[in-house]
Amino acid sequence: MALKILLVDPDESWNVQAKKFFLDASYEVTAVYNGREAQLAIYNDKFFAIIINYATENHSCMQVLKFIKSNSTNQRVIVIGNEQKVLDAHDITEEKLQKIGVANLCVKPFTMLQLKEVLEGHLSLSDLMANVPKKEGISEETEVSLTDDNFSKIKIEEFYSSQAVLFDIYIKLSANKYLKILHTGDTFSKERLDKYKNEKKVDALYFHNSDRRKFIQYNNYLSKKLIANENVPAYNKVNILKNVTEKFIEEAYTVGIKPLVIDQGREVCETVFQLIESQTDLYTVLRSYQNFDPTAYSHAFLVTLYSTAIIKQFEWQSRATIETTAMACMFHDIGKTLLPKEFIGMSMKDMSPEQVEQYKQHPELGFGLIENNRALNNSVKQIILQHHEAFDGSGFPFQKKGQKILTLANIVCLADDFVHIMMDEKLQPTEALKRILMDKAGVKRYNSVLIEKFIKVFVDPDKVKNEVALPSNSRVVKKAG
Ligand SMILES: [Fe+2]
Ligand SMILES: [Fe+2]
Repeated sequence: MALKILLVDPDESWNVQAKKFFLDASYEVTAVYNGREAQLAIYNDKFFAIIINYATENHSCMQVLKFIKSNSTNQRVIVIGNEQKVLDAHDITEEKLQKIGVANLCVKPFTMLQLKEVLEGHLSLSDLMANVPKKEGISEETEVSLTDDNFSKIKIEEFYSSQAVLFDIYIKLSANKYLKILHTGDTFSKERLDKYKNEKKVDALYFHNSDRRKFIQYNNYLSKKLIANENVPAYNKVNILKNVTEKFIEEAYTVGIKPLVIDQGREVCETVFQLIESQTDLYTVLRSYQNFDPTAYSHAFLVTLYSTAIIKQFEWQSRATIETTAMACMFHDIGKTLLPKEFIGMSMKDMSPEQVEQYKQHPELGFGLIENNRALNNSVKQIILQHHEAFDGSGFPFQKKGQKILTLANIVCLADDFVHIMMDEKLQPTEALKRILMDKAGVKRYNSVLIEKFIKVFVDPDKVKNEVALPSNSRVVKKAG
């Protein structure tokens, strides 16, 4: 069933154009030109979303908004402004509109595609699935010429789909050339994918970056299901969560930390929490994990995974601390997006002294990006600011020392250093751990309690329990092996 939207805009040509666009995008559209018609439509029908121009007359936009507020709770409303200066003259801000139940304010000029993205930010997974056009079978393959930076990549064996694919799927033919092999709404065809995989040796699938949000939503939902299933090996669970987290971080780094992005981040953090909470054999993966791709966002995912696994070892751990830290880990290096491009992938030891100074600004730059973001709590902000502070005072930017550093930030610092060693030197996790423990000076960077807990991350929890259960004067002699 298609989702219904109501368009209210006195500008006839815009209204007609928008109606056509959303019909083509498989929505059901009611378009009206004034507030009175809008109220009648709202009275008679239910809409997934209402898009209303601030300049609406004959029942003004404000009157209609009040009507909506008193008649239906949780109605999604997007207000459109023709000109910023008109809104300013009426002292209309997005914040004020949000107080009366409006989700977003979009000021022209914007493209229809941008408006659709704002709208689809509100789609739940079931909305998303409901809005996929139902087709029988599979459409023709079509060749598309678009630059590589429009696409996100996923390994073919790690691609999951519902019955109907939720977005277009491509394979890469050559630089800037793609073949659309499944169109939105096509029945998912394992045969077709297998054909590419086995006969044509295709190892990756692509989707357009504008569908990244849908990818995250669907795969996060799948991750939760997989995590709840005891028969699925921990390794597979970690891998699917890795894909979700990496794509989420990519989204946040490219579109910015907007409220809708944070909402999605919370869902991802919830899944991280579920994995950390429920997977008693996670240690088997944590001590041998080797699936990373240095070009993508593996680094932030692994920092998230190991930081939250360390927290899990503490008695004071809670869902809130795990989710907060997961959020901070995903964004910990966001400040690097403000550094010049040459810093991408550069390790600190290859930098000139001036570059090092510049690099050391990234925690503060990151903090600056999110300082006023009310959707993120203060701990998240402080962890990002302090993730390079070291327990012995040798860190940056403030050379904070000891207890002055947030424990959660020191945990992220440890996990961050660990992941750097592991990825830069292509070491097994246990080898990277040894490297940290053997560096007598370096190990002072962390509160010693953290090191103790970190070692436990790699140990079978049942074994730990057994050892703890033995009183120190026990006469029971442990069996060898
Ligand atoms: Fe960093
Ligand atoms: Fe980092």
